[in-house]
Amino acid sequence: FRITPGNDEEVQVLKKVLSHMKVDFWQPNSVSMIHPNNTVDVHVKHSLTQSLHAHLKQRHIDYRVFISNLQKEIEKQTGHRSTRKRRSESEYDYEVYHPLQEIQSWMFEMNRTHPYLVHMFSIGKSYEGRPLYVLQLGKRSRPQKKAVWIDCGVHAREWIGPAFCQWFVKEAINSYKYDSVMRRLLNQLNFYIMPVFNVDGYHFSWTTDRFWRKTRSKNHKFHCRGVDANRNWKVKWCEEGASYHPCDDTYCGPFPESEPEVKAVAKFLRKHKKRVKAYISIHAYAQMLLYPYSYKYAAIPNFDCVESAAHNAVTALYSAYGVKYRYGPASTTLYVSSGSSIDWAYRNGIRYAFAFELRDTGYYGFLLPETLINPTCTETTRAVKAIASGLLKKCESYRDVFPYL
Ligand SMILES: *[C@@H]1O[C@H](CO)[C@@H](O)[C@H](O)[C@H]1NC(C)=O
Ligand SMILES: *[C@@H]1O[C@H](CO)[C@@H](O)[C@H](O)[C@H]1NC(C)=O
Ligand SMILES: [Zn+2]
Repeated sequence: FRITPGNDEEVQVLKKVLSHMKVDFWQPNSVSMIHPNNTVDVHVKHSLTQSLHAHLKQRHIDYRVFISNLQKEIEKQTGHRSTRKRRSESEYDYEVYHPLQEIQSWMFEMNRTHPYLVHMFSIGKSYEGRPLYVLQLGKRSRPQKKAVWIDCGVHAREWIGPAFCQWFVKEAINSYKYDSVMRRLLNQLNFYIMPVFNVDGYHFSWTTDRFWRKTRSKNHKFHCRGVDANRNWKVKWCEEGASYHPCDDTYCGPFPESEPEVKAVAKFLRKHKKRVKAYISIHAYAQMLLYPYSYKYAAIPNFDCVESAAHNAVTALYSAYGVKYRYGPASTTLYVSSGSSIDWAYRNGIRYAFAFELRDTGYYGFLLPETLINPTCTETTRAVKAIASGLLKKCESYRDVFPYL
């Protein structure tokens, strides 16, 4: 359901109804973030749909049903057809979604067949004991190159994320031979690519609950599992836009870096923070490019440089298929959230920190069809290349140079 409450009264009614029904929030992430005239996308159990229709009609609240049979849409992506295609031995299919095992096998294969550009290693283990693999992508020569970190799959149900990380690696390797921009990037930078950050959650979204978002860690007092891996970072931890309740989708965890996945990445970035010049996290959906701050309404010190990098990125993205992205500080462009990875990266000295919210704007939401993997990843690759290319140039923030502006 896409629901648009038109005033405060409708917001109050909607909050009550949706909390009571325990719906699955797609956008925004929790009931507390419902505001007048802002659309709310929710996934509702079959047994409750008639009742929700009735409530909304009775109160004259504006709404539409985008997907009337979610199960059917899910099966299009995990059913027989895709499975057969994915298993084709000859060539890896980048235009289907892959379960964790296949992504990991693909990483080993990349590491084996492209030793000149790819180096695969593990930065730790997940809550359930799975290795946390990262691919270093870049020409091996100078040991102290600048670096760009890219993670995908922080939120389990955002399947387009891992598909993008794989696409980017493929594209980088293939175009290294003929694309002078990519060659320069790989010669002068290292990319650290983590295709699946939240490995346990991603696996769970394939086996059990397609719309799982959090990690899979257990809680002592509650039966609910998992922590929001994008609210668990040690920066304004668990303040506005995060929840203390273990059953909420934006649960911040018992303490900062409680999740082994977050801790491992934070440790890696802390260790390499002198070299890592940009942090990029790939999410879905909203078609936005966001940068700090997430936790407050204020401009970052190097706002002009970051804003111009974002502008170049969305322009490059638009040049592929004319898809429009909004961009700006996460707090004002999407919503306020605390304990996020971009704020943490920024605070730890990574001056270019971005979160992408990829396609679409809610028609398919997390069930973005496999036919859209190619265009979505193609345009996003352009945006990431634009950001990375910008790092090779110098940017003086006007605000830094002329404080009176
Ligand atoms: C919501 O939209 C309606 C109609 O466009 C407008 O009259 C109203 O002022 C808006 N409310 C808010 C809080 O923006
Ligand atoms: C990647 O390949 C190198 C050899 O080229 C090997 O030493 C390394 O262990 C491989 N990485 C993994 C995770 O297997
Ligand atoms: Zn996300």
